[in-house]
Amino acid sequence: MDDLLIVGARPYGEDPVDLLVRGGVVAEMGAGLAERHDRDGGPGGGPRRLEADGLVLLPGFVDLHTHLREPGGEESETIETGSAAAALGGYTAVFAMPNTDPVADSAVVVEYVRRRGEEVGLVDVHPVGAVTVGLEGAKLAELGTMARSAARVRLFSDDGRCVNDPLVMRRALEYASALGVVIAQHAEDHRLTAGAQAHDGVVASRLGLAGWPATAEETVVARDCALAREAGAALHVCHVSSARTLAVLRAAKADGVRVSAEVTPHHLLLTDAALTAYDPVHKVNPPLRTAEDTAALRAALVDGTIDVVATDHAPHAAQYKDTEWAAARPGMLGLQTALSIVVHALVEPGLLDWRGVARVLSERPAAIGGLPDHGRPIAVGEPATFALVDPDGVWTVRGATLASRSANTPYEGMRLPATVAATVLRGRITARDGRVAHHDDGRGTP
Ligand code: DOR
Ligand code: ZN
Repeated sequence: MDDLLIVGARPYGEDPVDLLVRGGVVAEMGAGLAERHDRDGGPGGGPRRLEADGLVLLPGFVDLHTHLREPGGEESETIETGSAAAALGGYTAVFAMPNTDPVADSAVVVEYVRRRGEEVGLVDVHPVGAVTVGLEGAKLAELGTMARSAARVRLFSDDGRCVNDPLVMRRALEYASALGVVIAQHAEDHRLTAGAQAHDGVVASRLGLAGWPATAEETVVARDCALAREAGAALHVCHVSSARTLAVLRAAKADGVRVSAEVTPHHLLLTDAALTAYDPVHKVNPPLRTAEDTAALRAALVDGTIDVVATDHAPHAAQYKDTEWAAARPGMLGLQTALSIVVHALVEPGLLDWRGVARVLSERPAAIGGLPDHGRPIAVGEPATFALVDPDGVWTVRGATLASRSANTPYEGMRLPATVAATVLRGRITARDGRVAHHDDGRGTP
């Protein structure tokens, strides 16, 4: 692989440096490197240059919660289109949820997803294995077989559904503890949310939609923290949506429970006030809640009660989304807008700096997902796996022009801050100036 010279980038938004990347690793780093190479290499010689003047250099983002829909849901997304969306969003690794058809509850399916991700080559695709066979919540899937398979599954989830039965969840956590893997729970007591269409609050009552109470999340998280403590297992709470859940997480963390938690960009920014237009693009599970919730979730991300931002990127083809509210599938796109929403909701108001962005989008998710080569410090000897961000970039979201096969973005027409200028995976440029660079085109330039 050719050497790459990244010129004038600002690690974590700090002073500019040049980086020489060799063999996928940062070989040299410092001010004035580029001038030296220009002098030594002469015109036309020396490494390929990536001009990064003024750009913020961050470790590549890691998404613990992505729906790529393949196999079986290719009308909504494929591993190829979802990987493109990820690379364009600054991601270098994603965890693909198992609610596919067939469900990723066996070595065959997780190995397929992993292999297809490698073939596409735009982002490291790590399959999440199902906790229960067919996501049915009854019989444990073969977690050990998936963990030991070529896909080396480290995260298990029935996402889309909750592992509602406490005995099944307890056994899953016991296996997880023995295997050294993580159970990611979609916390929703289905007995409390039957028929639910929106956050159980004044907006839902006014619109005549059945309510999804925050207690359905809070009670499952409380139960699971107790079970995780008993099993000595690592529990990850998916898409925390309610302020009430935060008190439970704080108490469990203070008590030494091995629990981590994620929040989505949409739960940091949007509220159920958006529902008044009855546009199903805003239908998501868990539902958009109130401004008190978004404020509490932002504060929890800043103070570490919530560890990471995860997208819950949930593409749905028009036939599943452009219907009446009750029939529409829940979920919204997230990969290409996540950074901009984090900047808008947290960086611009002064709640998070670029070091904080690296923590919640790269470092903590890589640690939770067990990825030793992602979320690393920007330093000599470390993998050249980066997102290069233009902090002054502004763009207007158009679902039709996103790389996903679906267009269900809730940010349609919004002008958002921060653009991803380039994404680099182990020294190879995977996206640049809004275009992806495919695996097999040699120099990696679009
Ligand atoms: O909104 C959601 N969409 N929540 C989930 O839990 C599943 C996801 C999907 O698969 O579409
Ligand atoms: Zn979920």
